[in-house]
Amino acid sequence: MFWHIPILIILYNFLFTYSSSPSSPTHSLSKGSSVYVDRKDDNLVSPNKLFTAGFYEVGTNAYCFSIWFTEPLAQNMNPTVIWMANRDMPVNGKHSKLSLQDDGDLVLHDADQSIVWSTETKNTSRSLSLQLEDTGNLVLREVNGDSVPVWESFDHPTDTLLPDQLFTKNSQLISSRSNANFSSGYFRLYFENNNVLSLLYNSPEITSVYWPPPYQKTWEAGRSAYNNSRIAKLDSQGQFNSSDDLGFFVWDFGMSRQRIMKLDYDGNIRVYSLIDHQKEGKKWEVQWQAFSGSCKIHGVCGPNSLCTYSQETGRKCACVPGYKRKNQTDWTFGCEPKFRTCAQVSEDYIKLRFVEFYGFDMSVLLNSTLEACKQACLNDCKCKGFQFKFENTNYNYNYNCYLKSLLYNGYQRGFRDPMYIKLPKQLVSPAQQALIVKGSNLICPEQQQIMPIQRSYEKKHASSSLKFLLWFVYGIGIMEVLLVLIFFYITLKDSFRTAKSYFPIASGFKRFTYTELKTATRNFSKEIGRGGAGVVYKGKLSDDRTAGIKMLKEGNIHQGEAEFQAEISTIGRLNHMNLIETWGYCIEGKHRLVVYEYMENGSLATCLNSNKLDWGKKLEIAIGTAKGLAYLHEECLEWVLHCDVKPHNILLDADYNPKVADFGLSKLFDRGAIENSCFSRIRGTRGYMAPEWVFNLPITSKVDVYSYGVVVLEMITGKSPLQMLQLGEGSSSGRDQTLVEWVRSKIREHIGSQNGAWIEEIVDGRTCGEYDTRALINLVKVALQCAEDDRDARPSMSQVVNILLDLRYDD
Ligand SMILES: *[C@@H]1O[C@H](CO)[C@@H](O)[C@H](O)[C@H]1NC(C)=O
Ligand SMILES: *[C@@H]1O[C@H](CO)[C@@H](O)[C@H](O)[C@H]1NC(C)=O
Ligand SMILES: *[C@@H]1O[C@H](CO)[C@@H](O)[C@H](O)[C@H]1NC(C)=O
Ligand SMILES: *[C@@H]1O[C@H](CO)[C@@H](O)[C@H](O)[C@H]1NC(C)=O
Ligand SMILES: *[C@@H]1O[C@H](CO)[C@@H](O)[C@H](O)[C@H]1NC(C)=O
Ligand SMILES: *[C@@H]1O[C@H](CO)[C@@H](O)[C@H](O)[C@H]1NC(C)=O
Repeated sequence: MFWHIPILIILYNFLFTYSSSPSSPTHSLSKGSSVYVDRKDDNLVSPNKLFTAGFYEVGTNAYCFSIWFTEPLAQNMNPTVIWMANRDMPVNGKHSKLSLQDDGDLVLHDADQSIVWSTETKNTSRSLSLQLEDTGNLVLREVNGDSVPVWESFDHPTDTLLPDQLFTKNSQLISSRSNANFSSGYFRLYFENNNVLSLLYNSPEITSVYWPPPYQKTWEAGRSAYNNSRIAKLDSQGQFNSSDDLGFFVWDFGMSRQRIMKLDYDGNIRVYSLIDHQKEGKKWEVQWQAFSGSCKIHGVCGPNSLCTYSQETGRKCACVPGYKRKNQTDWTFGCEPKFRTCAQVSEDYIKLRFVEFYGFDMSVLLNSTLEACKQACLNDCKCKGFQFKFENTNYNYNYNCYLKSLLYNGYQRGFRDPMYIKLPKQLVSPAQQALIVKGSNLICPEQQQIMPIQRSYEKKHASSSLKFLLWFVYGIGIMEVLLVLIFFYITLKDSFRTAKSYFPIASGFKRFTYTELKTATRNFSKEIGRGGAGVVYKGKLSDDRTAGIKMLKEGNIHQGEAEFQAEISTIGRLNHMNLIETWGYCIEGKHRLVVYEYMENGSLATCLNSNKLDWGKKLEIAIGTAKGLAYLHEECLEWVLHCDVKPHNILLDADYNPKVADFGLSKLFDRGAIENSCFSRIRGTRGYMAPEWVFNLPITSKVDVYSYGVVVLEMITGKSPLQMLQLGEGSSSGRDQTLVEWVRSKIREHIGSQNGAWIEEIVDGRTCGEYDTRALINLVKVALQCAEDDRDARPSMSQVVNILLDLRYDD
């Protein structure tokens, strides 16, 4: 009857492990004691149980001493790590330990007893203890009394700041290498020598500051270089203040939530709040970020590459034509030439539009010509290409030419000046010469792979009797482990399946309460606009920003709700300088409101009526509007149609920069489905609507092109298309004539006479200021082409942008 003894032992062991597992947590470590890597429960826990400090597994058998939020997220088995002692030197999973030595030094020993990290607090004879405080701060301080800490983790952040943690002149945040690799990456947040809180890309090859944007002066970026106290903090309410005058509120300001401010591995700095989604559990959601399109972060795609960004797909990288990817797993290596450089072969250029490469100018040719630029770059074998910019130098508009020694920080988006890439002639095919690299053609960076880290350690020799005992214990241990594993497998297998993404997607805007908006608009007292979908009020938000707040019509609520949903889901994802920015929304009972940025100069419609615009401004508005629409149609990677382009929906900021507003009627398309897409009901405004609506033809992005053409004609002629329809103005046949037909008839009347004589007959005589006849004629021609009845004869919005920009160069 001895067979049951081993079983009893196993059972005893099992029960013992189980009953003792929720061992009372330790809050502090006193002199002479240690935290061991092999004892899983051997952690420090803050008194409020929010934070845990202990060994965190960062790779196979590789551990870092870390602090994390005790509670793991439902979606994500890994807890959120906020601090690491030895991120670049993980220790072995056996025999490693963190000890508070008798000499007062806090030391992290690897398995081979080598010192991997220490606080260097030797020679403090006082009696010390290590505590994890409720704030998440790991503090080494004297046992009795609240004296100044000898050492604290808040002074040595890794990539994360907690609320009320001071960021000082001695602090820096360094991003991790990737989402799976916690070791130090290339991005850094710190106070620059000029007292400005800055972000730096610091790779082995290049170093450059990318935030605040290097092309802006300190004061233009809203910063001050004159306060050398160099101190910053995110407070518990969600307000961030820095001594360089940087300040912001997070979206959910004032709500008491867990927050972290983190320099992410993609080089963006974000504030996250922990939001409880009842059913799906808790998630970290972005409440503020320094960049909304992360392509302006330097170094993201490595050298010789181009970056594109959209909210849906995130950041994408692609090689510049003529170059190929260097490392298939890591984009920071960028691309390398497919050809031999400086090989004395004949060379030519590929032109890339809407692309900028920042920095690495080897020389600048001011007031130059395209031919001179091309020659200058050909003459220097180090020159990789040049940016040809039309810009204001000393109050004169000139073409300046920036020769590049390195193609770095390339990104794509609405940037008008072309980039010329120098390549051997055989790589430049005629079809390639004026290439627009499309975002959709870009290759996604692959997920970074997790590599095992192997840390070796010396085995100690043991006596043979000890060995036997050890084997015995191991035997029992293995069985125990098996049982525990089976138990865990059964209970955890479902949760493992869901462990996946690390960063939730930003919701993009804030949800306001109705009361908040009522206060902001002083009970909806100041009306600034009125449209089909509702009334727009001016308001002041609690953070002092002025906003346009649109209340959707209540009587019309069913339709209003559909429009509202379309509006929210569409504009929430869009981000372009010529599109109105949406700050938030409100759904409460019957109320549906949208909060936009406020535009000082109101709509193009009112400005046209009050005759505020000169020809220069009108041309810029035409270009800006075209860019906004081109972005909607093409750069977004999904086709977004506006469907109601008209002067009332083009708003003007303080400098008369146009921003397209009101996407209430837009609908999202899959690129593939574009041909047979069909709307169920007619949308748009009479006078601006393309014939497709009337004839029930498929609706494509060309409906916006048509409306755009009409808007441009309206700007030039000063005649409202709707009024023309109502008055029957210019109709000789008794039949209604559209604005487009009227302009065409004027041009026909002058066939044979001097070129361009008709322009004087159609331009708005009320508009003051000189106009460039040739530019205006071309603008009318573009507008007429946009307003062709046959949709295939109309150009695309991005073609319009290109034509108009060339037109401006020609002035
Ligand atoms: C610590 O004290 C010892 C002896 O008192 C001295 O030799 C050593 O230099 C001191 N170390 C530091 C870092 O102050
Ligand atoms: C931030 O600055 C504002 C005004 O400049 C001040 O009212 C507020 O108290 C500051 N907040 C913190 C946390 O310092
Ligand atoms: C510098 O910034 C600190 C912290 O924000 C502030 O308390 C101090 O008044 C500022 N000093 C000056 C001269 O503006
Ligand atoms: C690519 O980079 C990874 C990680 O940095 C490295 O391990 C790998 O060897 C590199 N591959 C090539 C082909 O260079
Ligand atoms: C630019 O060059 C042109 C022709 O070389 C010259 O007429 C013009 O004055 C120059 N402009 C400036 C601002 O130097
Ligand atoms: C993490 O990145 C560092 C630096 O690039 C590299 O040396 C290390 O091997 C990586 N670790 C893992 C686990 O991939």
